[in-house]
Amino acid sequence: MLKKLSESIMRNPLIGWGIFIVVMVGVFVMGLLAASITERRAEIATLYANKKVEITGINAKNEEWGLNYPREYDTWKKTKNMDFRSKHLGNVTEDILESRPEMVVLWAGYAFSREYTAPRGHMYAIEDVTHTLRTGTPDCENSDMQPSTCWSCKSPDVPRMMQEKGIEEFYKAAWSEHGSEIVNPIGCADCHDPQTMNLAITRPALIEAFERQGRKIEDATPQEMRSLVCAQCHVEYFFKGDGKYLTFPWDGGITVEDMEEYYDNSNYTDWTHSLSRAPMLKAQHPDYELFLLGPHAQRGLGCADCHMPYKSEGGIKYSDHQIVSPLKNISSTCQTCHRDSEANLTKYVYEYQDKALEIRNRIEVELTKAHIMAKTAWDNGATESQMNKALQLIRQAQWRWDYAVASHGGSFHAPVETQRILAHSLDRSMQAQLELQKTLFSLGISEVTMPDVSTKAKAQKYINLDMQKLHNEKENWLKTTLPTWIEKAKANGKIVSNI
Ligand code: HEC
Ligand code: HEC
Ligand code: HEC
Ligand code: HEC
Repeated sequence: MLKKLSESIMRNPLIGWGIFIVVMVGVFVMGLLAASITERRAEIATLYANKKVEITGINAKNEEWGLNYPREYDTWKKTKNMDFRSKHLGNVTEDILESRPEMVVLWAGYAFSREYTAPRGHMYAIEDVTHTLRTGTPDCENSDMQPSTCWSCKSPDVPRMMQEKGIEEFYKAAWSEHGSEIVNPIGCADCHDPQTMNLAITRPALIEAFERQGRKIEDATPQEMRSLVCAQCHVEYFFKGDGKYLTFPWDGGITVEDMEEYYDNSNYTDWTHSLSRAPMLKAQHPDYELFLLGPHAQRGLGCADCHMPYKSEGGIKYSDHQIVSPLKNISSTCQTCHRDSEANLTKYVYEYQDKALEIRNRIEVELTKAHIMAKTAWDNGATESQMNKALQLIRQAQWRWDYAVASHGGSFHAPVETQRILAHSLDRSMQAQLELQKTLFSLGISEVTMPDVSTKAKAQKYINLDMQKLHNEKENWLKTTLPTWIEKAKANGKIVSNI
């Protein structure tokens, strides 16, 4: 072949020049690439050399880190913005129970039926957990609704307090006990080692889950760390035992069935449904687990690739710390890999979401009906042995529905898996109805009247929640108790107020 080439060059010297130019261009481009890599390293090295303040230990005060890393800090602060809405998600608040009142019935007997709003930026983590009706109004008269474990995914003050008090002591305290300590929203010390600025896992639950699977988190690659820092919080979890120890149910695997089996084997239930009396599971937000089963994770992408894209400013490249829907910046997220228009890329996302939501809408109607049929059966004297099978089916159906719905990005992260899970939920909802129909028939009941649960207010009234009282109590608590927590935190130097 080489001989042929040299003959051709002899015949036509222009070919020789052509090859020479192509090679030179190649060498030049490779040089550029190498220069850019060294440059980025140099940039980061200068960045660290120019630190303005020394950060030691677990420093939860984001403002102090901001002095050293102004670009990351300024973009991080933008998680406070509420200026983006895609078709189904975005960084604005939305009262989900208002738009989907059946959820009130699905969660009857559980705190989620009181209030459930769409997630928003990380900066709101503390504000939202203190303001929600789900944490109640703990003070000297009212006891706590939640353990301290409930703070776990809200603040870099959590690892700080765990270090001070011990992990077990931290979890088993009452939620209100740490009200004046957990005060800074999700920030730098949640994901970074202050000395090296390497990504760091600060939450024991993730490290322990890895250990029980015989894996070591220290072996994770830098690319895996770009997802694992998020997996400290965006995962399925439960509060184990009386010590309310935060635990990920991953021992037998991370699919929806693996985790259900884990819960079944340990006889775990989150609550007993107040209408159907089914032993329920509440899925949290298995974003990481579902993502792993989708096409992007399987091609090696991590969460930060879409939610923290690189930005450039004055020749300096850094990670955008405004964690938000990637649809807000398609040019710096999807389009870094896909040569496709913004309109098309948006359309792919919406199509996946719409298809999943089509099934979700059917489930919410049918599963609600199953709960109410079960209540009717109990009201008419059904026995436990008549009900057991149907109640298990309700548990399974709702676990699957919740799993798919609570993983807010799931329908895009893993479209096929999400639709599979939803299909099984609908199937079990219908199977539960068939079982209940048999029981109702044997009790001589041929028709079940469905209540009007077409608004949040009607649904909450139907499940006997006194919302006026709950709201009044919370309003009063926010005026009286919460300010004392903040004042105490300020007096103890836990919040920075002068930067
Ligand atoms: C310490 C726990 C924690 C860590 C770590 C964490 N998150 Fe979150 N994340 C939350 C909480 C809590 C919320 C909801 C905050 C609220 O609504 O008040 C949230 C909200 C979000 C949202 C919704 C934002 C919006 O605008 O609606 C996205 C997207 C998100 N996180 C992605 C990520 C990614 C990607 C990572 C990793 C780079 C990550 N999170 C790491 C706890 C965490
Ligand atoms: C939810 C996790 C998370 C939080 C919170 C977070 N970071 Fe980061 N940070 C990352 C990730 C992921 C990267 C990319 C690291 C990589 O690719 O190796 C990063 C990178 C960085 C870098 C390296 C340069 C760059 O921009 O890529 C600096 C410096 C940095 N972060 C500073 C901060 C500061 C300051 C804060 C607090 C205001 C903060 N980070 C909060 C996850 C986080
Ligand atoms: C290939 C890009 C991509 C990757 C990688 C990715 N996501 Fe997403 N994520 C999206 C898109 C697109 C949405 C839907 C946004 C919308 O509808 O506005 C989304 C939505 C979300 C939401 C819901 C946001 C909201 O406003 O409620 C969360 C939370 C989230 N992702 C977390 C994660 C976590 C955690 C990881 C890693 C385990 C991850 N994402 C990896 C693209 C990605
Ligand atoms: C870091 C690179 C990268 C980013 C960023 C990225 N993708 Fe991808 N995406 C891929 C790769 C690689 C594949 C697999 C391609 C293949 O196998 O042909 C893929 C596949 C897809 C697919 C086909 C999924 C399937 O079922 O096979 C869609 C749709 C898609 N991406 C949309 C998006 C959207 C929308 C965004 C932004 C929110 C995005 N991607 C961000 C790399 C990326």
